[in-house]
Amino acid sequence: DSLTTFIAHLPKAELHVHLEGCLTPQLAQTLAQRNNVPLPNSVKQASTTSSSGFAFHDLSSFLAVYYSAMTVLQTAADFHDLAMDYLTKAHEQNVLHCELFFDPQAHTSRGVPFPTVVSGYRSAVLQAQRELGVSTSLIMCFLRDMSAEFAMATLMDALPFKDCIIGVGLDSDERGNPPRKFAEVFERARKEGFMRTMHCDVDQVGSIEHIRQALEEIGVDRLDHGTNIVEDARLVEMVREKRIGLTCCPISNSVVCSDFKGKEIMQLFRQGARVTINSDDPAYFRGYANENVLRLAREEELKVTRKELVGLMKNAFEISWISSWSRDAFL
Ligand code: HPA
Ligand code: ZN
Repeated sequence: DSLTTFIAHLPKAELHVHLEGCLTPQLAQTLAQRNNVPLPNSVKQASTTSSSGFAFHDLSSFLAVYYSAMTVLQTAADFHDLAMDYLTKAHEQNVLHCELFFDPQAHTSRGVPFPTVVSGYRSAVLQAQRELGVSTSLIMCFLRDMSAEFAMATLMDALPFKDCIIGVGLDSDERGNPPRKFAEVFERARKEGFMRTMHCDVDQVGSIEHIRQALEEIGVDRLDHGTNIVEDARLVEMVREKRIGLTCCPISNSVVCSDFKGKEIMQLFRQGARVTINSDDPAYFRGYANENVLRLAREEELKVTRKELVGLMKNAFEISWISSWSRDAFL
């Protein structure tokens, strides 16, 4: 229908996609064969269920499947192919700019060298720019359920790769792993010139305190998810005033939370917060950029107008970390 066409044609930017979350059961199967490694059980199950999807119902069960499936990623070529698979789909959906999360510790902790991961991703970034015209940069996430020392060592590993890594983030299991645990790592990252963001996942216990720490103690440039900031008018005022962006993910929310949080997302947007719509782990939640925007736009009671859809996408370009020169070209 005309709404679907409108959204498909809208120029888009994606600021919250995990590259490892772009691993489809099909690609996992190809890589397992190519590398002669056993197909993880999670992928086997995903390929045999009628819906051909992975099985999980909350953040912890999602993460268990996510980490087990990525063991098929071994060589630089695998990381390259994973990123190209996603970037090709993004290009087909008129995504012009991507800032892609990746989780190096999920690979280095099982013996894959850091430069293997980043060189594979980097060659895809360059190829996408050259062949598809998609501008792309990488955001390196620390796994918050691992130690601050491991995060610091990973930051040191990244220093030779500043040409393609624009910033750092924080993801994985949030329970008991507050932003404060990584204060020193994020301070060093700032001094090294990296932009900084953190997941404050919707519906995680204590998340509003985590949002406060991320904003006030760490001084992040963006918040990933962070939707439950609506509970605290003072923090909402702070992100408005400092023009700190929120990267929200409706379909992801609908899978791992109680709800897709459309009401909260639109409330924040209409209050002038820099809210954006993103796809998080599209291969797992089975929704790319267009599907996520459509999920929000289709919800009748939210009464989202086309002008607001344009505004949401404009936010994404505005809060992106591309240089202001290229950002002006997009806007
Ligand atoms: N939340 C936390 N950690 C993650 C996610 C997520 O949605 N995706 C990949 N790592
Ligand atoms: Zn995420």
